[in-house]
Amino acid sequence: MKSSLPKTTLPTANPLRRKLLQGFALGGIGSLLSTLSGSRVWALGAGTSSCVQTPPQTEGPFYPQTSQVDEDADLTYVTGQTGTALGEVILIRGQVTSGKTCEPVAGALVEIWQACYSGRYNHPDDTNPAPLDPNFQYWGKATSKADGSYEFKTILPGAYPASATWMRPAHIHFKISHAQHKTLTTQLYFEGTPYLDTDQILQALKPSERALMTMKLVPLSPLEAGGAGFIRGGRFDISLR
Ligand SMILES: [Fe+2]
Repeated sequence: MKSSLPKTTLPTANPLRRKLLQGFALGGIGSLLSTLSGSRVWALGAGTSSCVQTPPQTEGPFYPQTSQVDEDADLTYVTGQTGTALGEVILIRGQVTSGKTCEPVAGALVEIWQACYSGRYNHPDDTNPAPLDPNFQYWGKATSKADGSYEFKTILPGAYPASATWMRPAHIHFKISHAQHKTLTTQLYFEGTPYLDTDQILQALKPSERALMTMKLVPLSPLEAGGAGFIRGGRFDISLR
């Protein structure tokens, strides 16, 4: 059995969003913690909170081709395996919204796929000789709740070579689908990790867009992490057309 993911309110520096998030009830204890901790930066993981449309980025060659036994939002454990994924466990939380007023989008399918700790995808086209991790799920999905919130427990992916001269920094691919919105495919990066400054895909964005797509991971208390221990987490809000 997987542990349930933690619940924490996601405060924000943006007044409009703060107002909208007043009803963003992700749990009583989390809400209390957030209130008590004031400006705690857990909520500020991915640049500025805004209703600016999330920039699309290429899907890349490693979108999952086949279904897997375990497709949930905890990528650190695979049903049937006895171990857990190698690498740094992180929590990603955010809200799916649309429009200039950040209307929450409920029922959006949020898919993520990524390399494991070593930088290897579980995909037949990945020629990276780095080892696979049998305890890592590689691909997961979540459905945004009534308030637009979603969350994933995963690991910080490894960097990997895209060519002989190009290293891709740690990143997680996202695809967000909803019947009433244009499907968004993009990638999330992590502040302070290697190769961000030389990545052709990230650097193709404007600086303001790069800020939106680069998550600052911050330490969480065990309570904030929902029993996952002392780990880091960040927030990635997604604004659809
Ligand atoms: Fe990738």
